[in-house]
Amino acid sequence: MKTPLSTNRLNISFGGLKLKNPTALASGILGYSAESLQRIVEGGAGAVVTKSVGATPRTGYANPTVVQAKCGLINAIGLPNPGIDEYAEEIGYAKTVLTVPLIVSVFGYSADEYALVAKKAVKAGADAVELNVSCPHVTQTGSEIGQNPKLLAEVVAKVKASVQKPVIVKLSPNVTDIVEMAKVAAKAGADVLTAINTVKAMAINVETALPVLSNVKGGLSGPAIKPIALRCVYDIYEKVKTPVIGCGGITDWRDAVEFFLAGASAVQIGTAIALKNYSVFKDINRGVDAYLKKKGFGSVKEIVGLSHLS
Ligand SMILES: Cc1cc2nc3c(=O)[nH]c(=O)nc-3n(C[C@H](O)[C@H](O)[C@H](O)COP(=O)(O)O)c2cc1C
Repeated sequence: MKTPLSTNRLNISFGGLKLKNPTALASGILGYSAESLQRIVEGGAGAVVTKSVGATPRTGYANPTVVQAKCGLINAIGLPNPGIDEYAEEIGYAKTVLTVPLIVSVFGYSADEYALVAKKAVKAGADAVELNVSCPHVTQTGSEIGQNPKLLAEVVAKVKASVQKPVIVKLSPNVTDIVEMAKVAAKAGADVLTAINTVKAMAINVETALPVLSNVKGGLSGPAIKPIALRCVYDIYEKVKTPVIGCGGITDWRDAVEFFLAGASAVQIGTAIALKNYSVFKDINRGVDAYLKKKGFGSVKEIVGLSHLS
């Protein structure tokens, strides 16, 4: 096994998380088995987030569940997962092989369910939980919670009271004002915020005259959403003190540096793994490290939020 690239310049700690480098696997892309997570770590990731897991097993939507757009992917997979009781075993096994923080993404249909799944994930070995309150294509969970300030606060507070590990809240861009939702999550106790999940979108097949995805609508990811995600991170950093992980369309080191300058303490990468390969993490880390060295910075922390004028 090759050792992932890591220099002191790339180390970063925030919100109770300690990372050897500021890149992480985004939830949902290759993230159920310990083996696939390990391959991502070998590709250079400083942390991994699992695919979202719920209280009980759930089958996803029928195919097609993913369609290629011009600058990204539109997916409506439907949160298929084996349920936390079965997945707990995989979390336990993953903890024995992974050398980076293991963040388990959880979802539920009520605050109690989020808390229950989070508690079981932590008991199984999760180093942190990320609350998926932002999936745009499953009803009564995901963004239906993240778009409702009262529900969002209730979910975050209940999970915080149930686990002793960092609670990361993954925000939806499909809201009028993401800063308001970031404030709600922070006030309810979020240790870290992730911005953003996918942007609600669709595609139509002109031959059949029908929507391509079986679920009709899905979430857009990849380079098309990078400027939206960047703006969200910038806005949140201006108004909320809670550390932010940037996510959305990051494919190279320049994208990552933009996110740090906007205010992200780390970045998550998803679609770029499909566009490139696992080594995208190493490539980004090398580029960020060379940028820091060239500009005379001793740590990535020194450039977090640097684009803000005051
Ligand atoms: C195929 C696919 C599945 C995803 N599944 C999840 C998921 O289970 N939970 C979640 O919080 N986000 C999920 N996402 C969203 C990603 O974690 C990420 O927020 C989004 O894709 C933007 O980042 P990217 O442009 O780097 O992919 C999924 C994205 C894709 C493309």
